[in-house]
Amino acid sequence: MKIPNDFVMGVATAAYQIEGTSFGKCGPSHWDSFAAKGGTFQGQNGDIACAHYEHWQSDLDLIQQGGFDAYRFSVAWPRILADGTGQVTPEGLDFYDRLVDGLLARGIAPHATLYHWDLPQALADHGGWENPDIAKWFTEYALTVTDRLGDRLESIATINEPWCVTWLSHFLGHHAPGKTDLPAASKTMHNVLYAHGLATQAMRDAGHKNLGIVLNMEYAQPASDKPADVKAAQLYDGIYNRWFIEAITKGRYPSDVLPYLEPHFPTSWQDQMPLIQTPIDWLGLNYYTRSIHADDGTGQFPFGKSVAGPLNKTSMGWEIYPDGLEYFLNRLHKDYTGDLPLFVTENGMALHDQISANGVDDTTRATYIQNHIQATLNARKNGVPVNGYFAWSVMDNFEWAFGYEERFGIVHVDFETQIRTPKSSHKMLQEINKNR
Ligand code: FCB
Repeated sequence: MKIPNDFVMGVATAAYQIEGTSFGKCGPSHWDSFAAKGGTFQGQNGDIACAHYEHWQSDLDLIQQGGFDAYRFSVAWPRILADGTGQVTPEGLDFYDRLVDGLLARGIAPHATLYHWDLPQALADHGGWENPDIAKWFTEYALTVTDRLGDRLESIATINEPWCVTWLSHFLGHHAPGKTDLPAASKTMHNVLYAHGLATQAMRDAGHKNLGIVLNMEYAQPASDKPADVKAAQLYDGIYNRWFIEAITKGRYPSDVLPYLEPHFPTSWQDQMPLIQTPIDWLGLNYYTRSIHADDGTGQFPFGKSVAGPLNKTSMGWEIYPDGLEYFLNRLHKDYTGDLPLFVTENGMALHDQISANGVDDTTRATYIQNHIQATLNARKNGVPVNGYFAWSVMDNFEWAFGYEERFGIVHVDFETQIRTPKSSHKMLQEINKNR
């Protein structure tokens, strides 16, 4: 596989999944509370995780050894502002300051995400993403971080995967705060976008460059051509794949979904649409899988349920479908983003890896990654301005509700000893990166 010279090859992580919140002076987040309530596998949490807060230098060495151009990491809001607003924790900013300099010293471009899910508990206590004040709180935080780091960041993303922040966490209940409540979810579906818009505009006004957002998309396939199944898949596509991008690029919400959510919106929501549409400089796409949808027979919104599909699956049961990535890159370019630069900001595979004296053979993951890089390059050949690919993840880490059971790393982590062992997928990427 030949990667074009100007195509960025990167790897990604997120703060709560790797750093260890017991190090430094990190404040509590709603993930700590969600884990304590039993929302995660065996109640596992991010207290220690990969202890990256302590091992960050050797972790950056592993990225450098892999020959990567770029590293996408996130900043932990409660590390910067333990209460979410107000008093800044200097140790938190210092940590990311060292990290960014450490990346630059190794010739790796730093791509920061401001929010990858670790909402300060103090803000969760005030309603979190359901409270319209979240836009103001998030903007204060965004300016605090970028004021210190913005001069050295290659790109800044406001929010990682708004669908997970909102629908997955407030309607499906799988992530913190674990709600299953349509009115709550509806509010968050608007507030998350307003927070993105307000922070983007404030950072732009402060002179920061290369601002974007990271959306996840999942190919939604109807289980059959029965109209009810087709409708279920279409609504799923609307909530998951069209809601956020349509608002950001066209300043409106999909008309097939809006009637179900609007009754729960803040009254002034329409006045906020122009700000939500504030220009961005790039868009990140996270892509992992497709899903199959059938009518759930309830006659109630959202009318559908996911059913098992026939394709090969990861250890999390996610179907492996690289064509979906090519499809979304083409669709984004054609229907929404035009000339806007795109990046695949996450893609990877869960496997129950076994470590032996010979290391970790994860050929299945290496193939998955190669096939998705190929899908990305196919879209690029087709004229889509997709300029890079970030593998998820640098190392095995805290996989949210699945705890430490599901491994996505290209480097194996022994969570008892914190010993890192590069897997064969790391070697494969190292070769690809070297042969450019
Ligand atoms: C994405 C998340 C990331 C990781 C991968 C597997 O949805 O952004 O943190 O959990 O899934």
